Amino acid sequence: MSTAKKEYKRVTVKSLVDMKATGEKISMLTAYDYTMAKIVDSAGVDVILVGDSASNVMAGHETTLPITLDQMIYHASSVVRAIYRALIVVDLPFGSYQSDPKEALRSAIRIMKESGAHSVKLEGGKEIKESIKRILNAGIPVMGHLGLTPQSIYKFGTYTVRAKEEQEAEQLLEDAKMLEKLGCFAIVLEKIPAKLAKQVAESVSIPIIGIGAGPEVDGQVLVLHDMIGMTHEFNPRFLRRYLNLYEEMSTAISQYVDDVKTQDFPNESESY
Ligand code: KIV
Repeated sequence: MSTAKKEYKRVTVKSLVDMKATGEKISMLTAYDYTMAKIVDSAGVDVILVGDSASNVMAGHETTLPITLDQMIYHASSVVRAIYRALIVVDLPFGSYQSDPKEALRSAIRIMKESGAHSVKLEGGKEIKESIKRILNAGIPVMGHLGLTPQSIYKFGTYTVRAKEEQEAEQLLEDAKMLEKLGCFAIVLEKIPAKLAKQVAESVSIPIIGIGAGPEVDGQVLVLHDMIGMTHEFNPRFLRRYLNLYEEMSTAISQYVDDVKTQDFPNESESY
């Protein structure tokens, strides 16, 4: 099977399914604002997730629960303005789809209409089946999210690996098959054993995108601010840091403060 990178002019939900079929791995990263999204898109990332992790990364909340639908739309529309190539997926935030399918559809429509994004992501399996169906029936592409689902953190109690026990693993596999059957175009699997993630990826024809789900899935996703090291307190095993921007930015900003205090900045050539 070829794993060469194909140039998709504009990544669509269909290109992702084709990538799985040809064995090309899918790259996905989060972005929440125009400037970062522009860099991520031009670097060739296939899918940009406007994740509700914005609640942690951008707003400093402890969990993803407080972010609102209006705030997600604000982040998503900033990202949409930056993008030429990537497919944009937006998280439906906590409280915008769990109570009933009609509300779920209304929330998804607001995201699509007001931000211009291409698809939505919802956390959960059989318990949100009717909501997913209704959104799909309206022609809105849906990405599923199983395993560790941070919107349910108070039910789980911890952020540890999910589906280690047989019963939960079986339910997860069943949910993944159900999401495929409903018509979801891909599924994120978060923090589950690599062996189970491989089994899920082999059991469905839609792409499985992992975060802490091992290498034998169809693509990988990370939170941008973690992979470029802007955050430094969050250190799960699955995270690979490609930069240490926290340190580099701190050093640069300290230097700027010194330069201002000592009147080194601005110099003559930086003045009019
Ligand atoms: O909100 C988010 O960033 C996510 C990823 C962790 C997959 O859902």
